[in-house]
Amino acid sequence: ITDQPTPDAVVSVNSAYVNRGWGFEGRTYLVTGGGSGIGRAISLALAAAGAHVVVAGRTPDKLDETVALIGKSGSGQGLAVPADVRDPAAVDDLVAAAVERFGRIDGLVNNAAGNFVAPGIDLSPNGWRAVVDIVLNGSYYCTRAVARQLRAQGTGGSVLSVIATYAWHGHPGTVHSAAAKAGVLAMTRTLAVELAPYGIRLNCVAPGPTETEGAGAALWGTDEARAGVLATVPAGRFADPAEVADASLFLLSERSSYLTGDCLTVDGGQWLGKQVYGRTAEAPV
Ligand code: HXC
Repeated sequence: ITDQPTPDAVVSVNSAYVNRGWGFEGRTYLVTGGGSGIGRAISLALAAAGAHVVVAGRTPDKLDETVALIGKSGSGQGLAVPADVRDPAAVDDLVAAAVERFGRIDGLVNNAAGNFVAPGIDLSPNGWRAVVDIVLNGSYYCTRAVARQLRAQGTGGSVLSVIATYAWHGHPGTVHSAAAKAGVLAMTRTLAVELAPYGIRLNCVAPGPTETEGAGAALWGTDEARAGVLATVPAGRFADPAEVADASLFLLSERSSYLTGDCLTVDGGQWLGKQVYGRTAEAPV
């Protein structure tokens, strides 16, 4: 009995993990596709929590808008860096620019994506390649570059990838995106194990249908398509990007310090409620 820890000792052992902060103040995160939609929402939430945010993407105007919004409402600073994640050399330059400006990097959000609805067997090789290059290859290049920097710093850090539930259940009409997102999930689980000894955690968030211009135009561009998607969501509404950002910040933060290699689904119950597609030669959304 005397070998048992006293209640005080138990409290003392656990105290490092009780009431700790979120850990964003003064840290630096790189968000790809940060100029719009979910990427912008995550960037703004990180900056509001005190982090510096390097916003990357292909369209400079949209990046500048996000950085201006960070300037108005964030307590951290923003930096816009135009870059295409499909280019590994550009990704290395992106990470170097982040380190040059803020001195270090603490995490990455793989959010950049491309998507359109097309029957799988009618996709051109270029159509397949465009989406797989952005989603899978781009996420790998960014993860590799940031993880190398984190290893060199010896600080640990957190990588979050935005995927979709069809990474595991598939979805007619988006074979390129579903295959790429499944690859990102497998990458996350593999590197979570390889990089845990360096204090680097990797997780995914899987949003359901979210009110963003990009996904709306790519996936539910007509009123009919939108109503069809809405009918599949038990919660009866689309997500607000801020709701996805909240879950994302948890996974990036110190509050999830023992959580790695996993995926948090934020979809209003959609995938659990949508188990049967039926027989179709079309590409429903
Ligand atoms: C058939 C199409 C097509 C379409 C493009 N392609 N759109 N094929 N139907 N609607 C084909 C082109 O014909 C071309 O093939 C090839 O794809 C590459 O097209 P480009 O326009 O040259 O490429 P690029 O400029 O790099 O554009 C990439 C893109 C584009 C993915 C096609 O849509 C894009 O950049 N999107 C970024 C924004 C985005 O999509 N956001 C939505 C993410 S939402 P050929 O053979 O003609 O050369 C998301 C949510 C998922 O992912 C989860 C939901 C629940």
